[in-house]
Amino acid sequence: MTQARILIVDSNVGAVTDLQEILSEDGYDVSSVRDPQDAGGYLERKSVDLILTDLPPHTDELTYLRHLRGRCPATPIVLMTAHGSLRTAVEGLKAGAFDYVSKPFTAAEVRSIAKRAVEQARMGNGEVVPAFDARPDDTSPFGSLVGSSPSMVQVYKAIARVAQTDSSVLLQGESGTGKELIARAIHASGPRCCKPFVTVDGGALADSLLESELFGHERGSFTGAISSRKGLLEQAHTGTCFLDEVADLSPALQGKLLRVIQEKEIRRVGSTASTALDVRIIAASKLPLEPLVRAGTFREDLYYRMNVVTIDIPPLRERLEDLPLLAKRFLHLYGSMKVPPVTELSPDTLAALRRYWWPGNVRELEHAIERAVTLSPYSVICPEDLPPSIKDAMPEGLARAQGWVTLEDLERTHILRVLDSHARDLSRSATILGIHRKTLLRKLRHYGVAAGYGVA
Ligand SMILES: Nc1ncnc2c1ncn2[C@@H]1O[C@H](COP(=O)(O)OP(=O)(O)OP(=O)(O)O)[C@@H](O)[C@H]1O
Ligand SMILES: [Mg+2]
Repeated sequence: MTQARILIVDSNVGAVTDLQEILSEDGYDVSSVRDPQDAGGYLERKSVDLILTDLPPHTDELTYLRHLRGRCPATPIVLMTAHGSLRTAVEGLKAGAFDYVSKPFTAAEVRSIAKRAVEQARMGNGEVVPAFDARPDDTSPFGSLVGSSPSMVQVYKAIARVAQTDSSVLLQGESGTGKELIARAIHASGPRCCKPFVTVDGGALADSLLESELFGHERGSFTGAISSRKGLLEQAHTGTCFLDEVADLSPALQGKLLRVIQEKEIRRVGSTASTALDVRIIAASKLPLEPLVRAGTFREDLYYRMNVVTIDIPPLRERLEDLPLLAKRFLHLYGSMKVPPVTELSPDTLAALRRYWWPGNVRELEHAIERAVTLSPYSVICPEDLPPSIKDAMPEGLARAQGWVTLEDLERTHILRVLDSHARDLSRSATILGIHRKTLLRKLRHYGVAAGYGVA
């Protein structure tokens, strides 16, 4: 492997010398430029594995980072920020930096961050840092993951952190948020990438079948077991086992699975001998597991085994800034196959997509775009090509789904509370609310509760 190259951008000569010394000791080929303006020119001539940059005073970090990322989209950028300026650091991450170190930093901090960033770059994970366009990059393990919202950046960072380890990971997120895609990204970015990735669906099979499916069986161990068979766990040996819908496993299977994970051994159904098993477990659940543990439906010991690291994947409605990028990705995916190709979303289509609350998350968006591409007679998708529930979505649906209460909700609750506290006396309630009785009647009809309050 060739020597990794690092470019330092810093105007402070003393700081550059120190950094150069530390990083050269670790075997990197280190170069430096003093002025951010010169960084672009340097990068045109030479490619690097990491850029370590200071942010000179009055720099517009967003423009600067975009400029750097434009030059070399796959190179991680680490910011060196002034002590305490967390805002700059966060802005930097949002704009595409891989990570930041706050000044003054220790040699150990720089070494560790450089190591992580270079490893990342070497694995070809260009999109660890959010990308600014929607072109799929199938050569990268993160390539199929789209999104540059802060919460997705946290997800990318978590993937990068856990990929190199063998720790069990629990992925929690609503249906369609990308749990399987993320599980595959973790597998593909780690040392087990060339080994099997086997999916077990905890919700798909009956208990007895799932047991033999998971653990395998010996010939004759039950009616119908005409030959012995390797279970899915054994098939995943040396690789990764993706335990999907783990909350659906029965208590009995939870216990058996726990034993396998703890003892790193497996015994087929009907067999007395155990064999060693080396699998990395990535589990996924639509429901947060902790409440299930408290309710006693999910084993606490298994939960702790699996939840060494938990990655919470936010629902699409909480990261709507990713929606245009995702929509473009799917448009590219499906639209380019059509003759003539469908290449655009009209602005009002995008506005409608943003108003919807996406209970089915990214998968629902993908299906909506796929359907629209099929229906659209033109190269541009219009709102009419969207399913009615999405086209006609009202903004308050989204607000409610995000946990916000609309003014109308607030008014309705208040009115009903006043009525209920005053024996449903319309005149008295109207006086208390400071409105006319007629207005109150109109509102009750509007809410569709008039009959319940004795009004036609
Ligand atoms: N961040 C993302 N970028 C690009 N595509 C995504 C992203 N998240 C999800 N998808 C796509 O959305 C679809 C659903 O994703 P996936 O199957 O990983 O979700 P899931 O969380 O496992 O859903 P479920 O809980 O219903 O099984 C897939 O086609 C996937 O490629
Ligand atoms: Mg899934």
